[in-house]
Amino acid sequence: MRFKLDNVTAREILDSRGNPTVEVEACTSDGMMARASVPSGASTGSREAAERRDGDARRFGGKGVLDAVMAVNTEICEAVRGRDVREQRQLDNIMLALDGTENKSRLGANAILGVSLAVARLAAKASHEPLWRYLGGLQANLLPVPCMNIINGGVHARGQGADFQEFMIAPHGAPTLQEAVRQGSEVYHALRQILLDKNLSAAVGDEGGFAPAVSSNRDPLTFIVQAIEKAGYRPGEDISICMDPASSEFFREGQYHLRTEGSALSAAEMTAYYGELMDQFPVILLEDGLAEDDWTGWKHLHQQLAGRAELVGDDLFVTDVKYIQRGIDENLASAALIKLNQIGSLSETLDAVALCQLHGWGAFMSHRSGETTDTFLADLTVALRAGHLKTGAPCRGERVEKYNQLMRIEQALGDDACYAGLHAFVRRT
Ligand code: PGA
Ligand code: ZN
Repeated sequence: MRFKLDNVTAREILDSRGNPTVEVEACTSDGMMARASVPSGASTGSREAAERRDGDARRFGGKGVLDAVMAVNTEICEAVRGRDVREQRQLDNIMLALDGTENKSRLGANAILGVSLAVARLAAKASHEPLWRYLGGLQANLLPVPCMNIINGGVHARGQGADFQEFMIAPHGAPTLQEAVRQGSEVYHALRQILLDKNLSAAVGDEGGFAPAVSSNRDPLTFIVQAIEKAGYRPGEDISICMDPASSEFFREGQYHLRTEGSALSAAEMTAYYGELMDQFPVILLEDGLAEDDWTGWKHLHQQLAGRAELVGDDLFVTDVKYIQRGIDENLASAALIKLNQIGSLSETLDAVALCQLHGWGAFMSHRSGETTDTFLADLTVALRAGHLKTGAPCRGERVEKYNQLMRIEQALGDDACYAGLHAFVRRT
C-alpha cells in the first residue's frame, strides 16, 4: 500500500514568464502525495522532445496545456496506476510505449515528464528519504558549483542586449556551496552598481540576470571582471566566467551574425574570437559556442579550445544519448548540458548523465528560461554528483529556490558535504 501508485492528476499552472505549464500530483494508496512541475525553454534545440501546446489562440495565445493535462488525467493515469512508485524505469517505459512516437509528441513531453518527476518524488517520500538521497544513495554528497547567469542577452533579453545569451559566474574557489552562493550574490550586487554608474539599465531578463544594451559581447565580460574585483574576489582564482552564446539563435546561412558588433563570422572565425576572449577573460566553460547543425565547426572548436574551457553541447545534444554518443565518437565536445524537459523523462536523463560520466565528460545540469519554483533539479544534481549546474541569477524566486535547496541539502549533509570546486570543469589538452 505504501508504495502503490493510486492516482496521477495534472493541472495547468503558470511558469516564470507567465505562460501555462503542467503540474502533476501523484498519490499512493495510503494517501501520500507528491507534486512536480515542468519548465519550458525559449531558445530550444530543434531536436528536443515535443512540448505539447493546445494551439487554441483563444487561450494563452495558443500556449495552453490542457491537452497535456488531459493526457495525464486519462491515458497516462490508467496505464500507471497500481504500479510500485519505486519502479521508475518501468513507469517511464510504460509512458514512452504508450506515447509511441520518437519525440513524445502524442502525449507530450510536458505530460510525461510531469508524471515521471512527481512519481520519483513520491517514491522518495514513501521511502522516508529526501529526494537527493533517494535518487543518489550514499554517494550523494557532492555540492555543485553554482554557475549564476548574471548578464542575460539573446532571446532572454528580447534581442535588446548582448548577442550572447548567458554570462555566468562560477565561484569555484569557495570552500562550500553556501559560501559560493554568498560570493555570487555579492558579485551580482556589485555588477548592478557598476551598470547603474555607467547609466546602463539594471532591469533583469528571463533568468534574473541584468540585460543591459551593450555595443559588443566583450562588454559584459569586462563588467563582470570589474564586479568580481569590486566584490573583493580574484577573477580566475576565486571566480571564473562561463558563457552560453546559444549561437544557434544567430546562425543563418552558414554564418554567425553578431548584431551588436555588426559582424558575420564563419565557424572558424567564431572559434578564433572565443580564443581571444579566453586570452583576455577567465572563461572556463563555453556552451553552444557553435550552432546545433554545425557538426564540422564543433570538431574544429573542440580541437582548438578543449584544453582551455569545458565545451558543452546543449542544442547540439538535447540530453539525448543518441546525439551525445555521436559527440563522444567524433570528439566534438567535453560535456553535455542536461535538461530534464529536453528529453522528457527522468530515466532517460539518468542515462544521458551516466553516458557522459562513463566517458569522462562533464554533465552540466540546467534549468530552463521558463521555470517554476520546483527544486527537483537541485536534488538531482547532488544525487548524480554532476559537480556544476546553472539555474539563473541569484535573483527571482524560481531561480533562487534551486540555490536555496542546495544550501538546505548541504546543511543536511553536515560534515559529509563536499564542494566540487574547479575539478567539476572538464578541460583537456
Ligand atoms: P532556454 O535557454 O531554456 O531558453 O532554452 C537555456 C539555454 O539555452 O541553455
Ligand atoms: Zn544553452
